[in-house]
Amino acid sequence: MILSSTTGSNQERICSNILSPRSTFSNSIINSTEDELCTKYKYNTNTQFNKVLIIGLGQLGLTVARYVTEKGFDTYGFDISNQAIERAEKTTAVKKAINFGEFDVYIICVSTHKPDDLFSPQIDGLLSIAEKISREAKDGALVSIESTIPNGTSKKVFEMLSHRLHVVHAPHRWYAAEEKEHGVNQLRVIGGVCDCCLKAGLQFYGLNNDTTNTTNTTIGITNPITSNSIDGNNNNYDDNNGNENKDKQKSLGIPMHPVSEVEIAETTKIVENAHRYLQIAFAEDLYLYCQANDINFPELRDALNTKWNVNILEPREGIGGHCLPKDTKMFLQSSNRNNSKILTAAMDVDEDYKRFRAKLEKQIKSATY
Ligand SMILES: NC(=O)c1ccc[n+]([C@@H]2O[C@H](COP(=O)([O-])OP(=O)(O)OC[C@H]3O[C@@H](n4cnc5c(N)ncnc54)[C@H](O)[C@@H]3O)[C@@H](O)[C@H]2O)c1
Repeated sequence: MILSSTTGSNQERICSNILSPRSTFSNSIINSTEDELCTKYKYNTNTQFNKVLIIGLGQLGLTVARYVTEKGFDTYGFDISNQAIERAEKTTAVKKAINFGEFDVYIICVSTHKPDDLFSPQIDGLLSIAEKISREAKDGALVSIESTIPNGTSKKVFEMLSHRLHVVHAPHRWYAAEEKEHGVNQLRVIGGVCDCCLKAGLQFYGLNNDTTNTTNTTIGITNPITSNSIDGNNNNYDDNNGNENKDKQKSLGIPMHPVSEVEIAETTKIVENAHRYLQIAFAEDLYLYCQANDINFPELRDALNTKWNVNILEPREGIGGHCLPKDTKMFLQSSNRNNSKILTAAMDVDEDYKRFRAKLEKQIKSATY
């Protein structure tokens, strides 16, 4: 897959490089008709994205819906929960989608855990959404998977859509507790199944933040994927053929870091959370060490953190929420090699720590009554 700068009208050449030779994905559909499909459904830099459907209006999807609406897109929402749809209609200006036809962009924000177990990954719901899109969507639309997914999911979705639609993965770093600093529009990674998918995704999200491939100018940056100039308001002005695009294209204005393989984008999210899991588990382990050796943990932590490259976290109530445990498991389960010993050990430490806390709380309660 090409990620380097392209000049002139190289669309056909780019599309013929649709998948890298090292892709392990089952390419049955793509290999057979690759060029034909690419030519038919290729990304066109004059494409105007306007009508957007957010699928999954939970904690993340609701925030995304609000942001997309604020950016001036004609925004619709869909969720299997009527309650979620009603909440979105009340709190944002999104409209309830009756079907999946006629949208320019589909943003998928559905949950990716088992309905009865927050900590266990499952993508069945997401795949059922892909099926519905495949049946009802128009050719050439963009599907952006923003849910956290295991390695290989984007290509599976792409295969289900027969490259009738472009597929990108733009995982989230959104953090509810620090919405202002770490909201929807912070720097994010993006990967496309094909080059044309990535181009479409970059146009929709807005800013290519890849400093290795971009040329900063006083008016903005050059997008290496499209060779288009993007101004401070994230508006593209020229298409690949150097033609002026008079109608400014709307975008979300989010700085994006493009990667050359969609699996890299998929892996970043689950590794970010697995890394965080490890850091907390180490703090838990250190806490248990301090308990066993009669050392004051807070004072030790403060002392350690005076060093420039040390940052020991607080273990607090143990590793919770529906992202860290689920995404760490997703990382472990998506590996072709044997389980990562270090993450498996971290999970054991977390259990030990939670058991220790539960015992301590019980002792404190019985001493109080
Ligand atoms: N919340 C966060 O802080 C956060 C941050 C980064 C990534 N993520 C990821 O984003 C995704 C969504 O997370 P969330 O926190 O919004 O979850 P959530 O449980 O709050 O919301 C998920 C929504 O998806 C809906 N849904 C589930 N299956 C569906 C289907 N088949 N069709 C339509 N709607 C369906 C649910 O009814 C629910 O409203 C997950 O993959 C999560 O890991 C979340």
